[in-house]
Amino acid sequence: MGIVRFGAFVGWPITPGFEFSGTVAEVGKDAVGFEVGQKVFGLSLFNGYATEICVKADTLYHLPQNMTLEEAAGFPAVYMTAYHALLQLVIIRPTDKVIVHSAAGGVGSALLQLCRIKGIETIGVVGSTHKVERAKQMGATHVIDKSTQDLWPTIQQLYPNGPDVIFDANGGDSLQKGWDILARGGKMISYGVHTNLPKESGRINYLKLALAWLKAPRFNSLNMNQRSIITFNLSFMFDRKDLLKEAMDDLIGWLEAGKIEPLAVTTYAFEDVAQAHKDLQSGKTMGKLVLVV
Ligand SMILES: NC(=O)c1ccc[n+]([C@@H]2O[C@H](COP(=O)([O-])OP(=O)(O)OC[C@H]3O[C@@H](n4cnc5c(N)ncnc54)[C@H](OP(=O)(O)O)[C@@H]3O)[C@@H](O)[C@H]2O)c1
Repeated sequence: MGIVRFGAFVGWPITPGFEFSGTVAEVGKDAVGFEVGQKVFGLSLFNGYATEICVKADTLYHLPQNMTLEEAAGFPAVYMTAYHALLQLVIIRPTDKVIVHSAAGGVGSALLQLCRIKGIETIGVVGSTHKVERAKQMGATHVIDKSTQDLWPTIQQLYPNGPDVIFDANGGDSLQKGWDILARGGKMISYGVHTNLPKESGRINYLKLALAWLKAPRFNSLNMNQRSIITFNLSFMFDRKDLLKEAMDDLIGWLEAGKIEPLAVTTYAFEDVAQAHKDLQSGKTMGKLVLVV
């Protein structure tokens, strides 16, 4: 990927992999709650693309009975992102009207399911028709298919007063247009900029990127009309173990109670990592892609 300079704070060379699952091979002398041979999953500030990983016990979780190791490897990052965005960054009310972009993707599917638990009405936005059913299954009250429907007028038809919360990882134009229709008092949660990146070829067009940066919406605190913009990055959770614990306790509880489900997983052999990245970048995949060592 190259443009995400995570190496600046975790050091080079960087091995990707933010989440993983497996079997405990060894337990440190101060680590409590785990035994050799137990099946576990967890989060790590990278290095997950590996046959072995050494992590602290407070980012490791026992495998719930109703989840496979493959499903567990794709569980924490998307659900943590959704949980933090929906339940730790804003106060959400049952009457709120929410827009979830990229609704059949990992974070989008997790957001829809958490909104369903909280009884919140949602519009899930998808980029192609084969994703509509998936967004409905994940709990979207309404689904807008951008490939066949006019997105912004349809949102305005469904929510004439504007949405109260928008979850946007598109960036650029989508961020500006969403901001323009946000209800008074509404919140824009901006957690990614994937429309600035290529879908098919994988080559970054730096000119396009520079133009996108120049055209990116600028927000002026004197002219926000009671609206807010919120951004975050999940890596911040590694410094906030209290928030991480609160989220994972709830998420594992909901998973065991059948209120949320692990995302559908497509597995790839470890050697096929390049293909997995190509498929991910195509924007056509649904659920999570998991490398099996
Ligand atoms: N801030 C954070 O801490 C944080 C944490 C996790 C993820 N993220 C960001 O959240 C976004 C979604 O992550 P995810 O795990 O849900 O991904 P995902 O499962 O791969 O879903 C991504 C979806 O985004 C849409 N998309 C639009 N333009 C795209 C492009 N140029 N390349 C790829 N997909 C594109 C596609 O859906 P449609 O065509 O249906 O729109 C695609 O299915 C990513 O941008 C990621 O970087 C941020």
